Amino acid sequence: MTTPSAKPGVMLIKPYVAGGSNLEDRDDIIKLSSNEGAFGPSPKAQAAYTKGAAELHRYPDGGSTELRETIAKVHGLNADQIVCGAGSDELIALLCSSYASEGDEVLYSQYGFLMYPISAMAAGATPVTAPETDLTANVDALLAAVTDRTRILFLANPNNPTGTSLPASEVKRLHDNLRGDVLLVIDAAYAEYIAHEDYTAGIELVDAGDNVIMTRTFSKIHGLGGARLGWAYGPTNVIDVLNRARGPFNVNSAALDAGVAAIQDKEFTKKCVAHNLKWLAWTRDELRELGLTVTDSAGNFLLVEFDGTSQRNASAADKYLQGKGIIVRSVASYGLPNHLRITIGLEEEMRRVIDALCHFLGKNCD
Ligand SMILES: Cc1ncc(COP(=O)(O)O)c(C=O)c1O
Repeated sequence: MTTPSAKPGVMLIKPYVAGGSNLEDRDDIIKLSSNEGAFGPSPKAQAAYTKGAAELHRYPDGGSTELRETIAKVHGLNADQIVCGAGSDELIALLCSSYASEGDEVLYSQYGFLMYPISAMAAGATPVTAPETDLTANVDALLAAVTDRTRILFLANPNNPTGTSLPASEVKRLHDNLRGDVLLVIDAAYAEYIAHEDYTAGIELVDAGDNVIMTRTFSKIHGLGGARLGWAYGPTNVIDVLNRARGPFNVNSAALDAGVAAIQDKEFTKKCVAHNLKWLAWTRDELRELGLTVTDSAGNFLLVEFDGTSQRNASAADKYLQGKGIIVRSVASYGLPNHLRITIGLEEEMRRVIDALCHFLGKNCD
């Protein structure tokens, strides 16, 4: 019997495993496994999301016009250079399927976001990694890994799961030294959280050339992961390609409405940023006090290293936390078996995490 077979590469994909959300027999769970905003969505976005229920028989605006115009206004961009997607995951996949195919290479850094290799392989292309230094993307290593076959270079800034980021000067150096026919995708999913000045989400690099596109998401700071909403800002040539390749109604109407309300609710966004800054620093310092190694994360999560040679290793910590109703993220699938990624949640949640880890590590926790 013959059966349909998928394109080469697809069956080599290790399916993405999302952060856990359930623990048997518990309803008091603290979910810190998916970098979802600590406060959830803005109440205004929630109201907008439900308002259109009576109109669900209508197709959404396939051009996401109002949302693109709102994003353009808030960020000072040209709405014609924006495309919206069902999460930035969709945009990442569309970029791969539009720009890379069999024989082509898609480059990203060693611990880069896993949707890059998954989307590259789904497109039939070959994912290629460049080594990192101290869990941080290395521009020289990325440039050295570019070959004649490279079509796309993905840089998450800051990166998930490491949380580390490159200064604006390094991102510019990467672009300056990249061939013009390689598409540089700057994935700025966590851009809103960044406090330091020497940071670029990539907007000026998009404006400076034809081979840079920036992707953004509503899943993190705006707490709309369940709505699936992302956007990209790029040169007209790349935006034109995405508009041809995407589904005609790729973003649903409730997500569009919620997105408009979320991005306009600047007070709520400000509150989320301030909360994250405070509790990211607090949690990082507390973890270091406990003797754990923690990267200098710029996002809404921390990457924590445990002693892989001890019984108090990452996997034991993960299980211990689960026993306390706390779900964090194993990052073994990223090649980081000795680390766990912990999302910044509410104050009470972070205090419980630190208390649990203190007991797990056998420290004096009074
Ligand atoms: C770096 C990075 N890029 C993109 C995404 C995808 O976000 P979404 O598809 O929810 O917009 C994530 C989600 O975790 C991420 O961490």
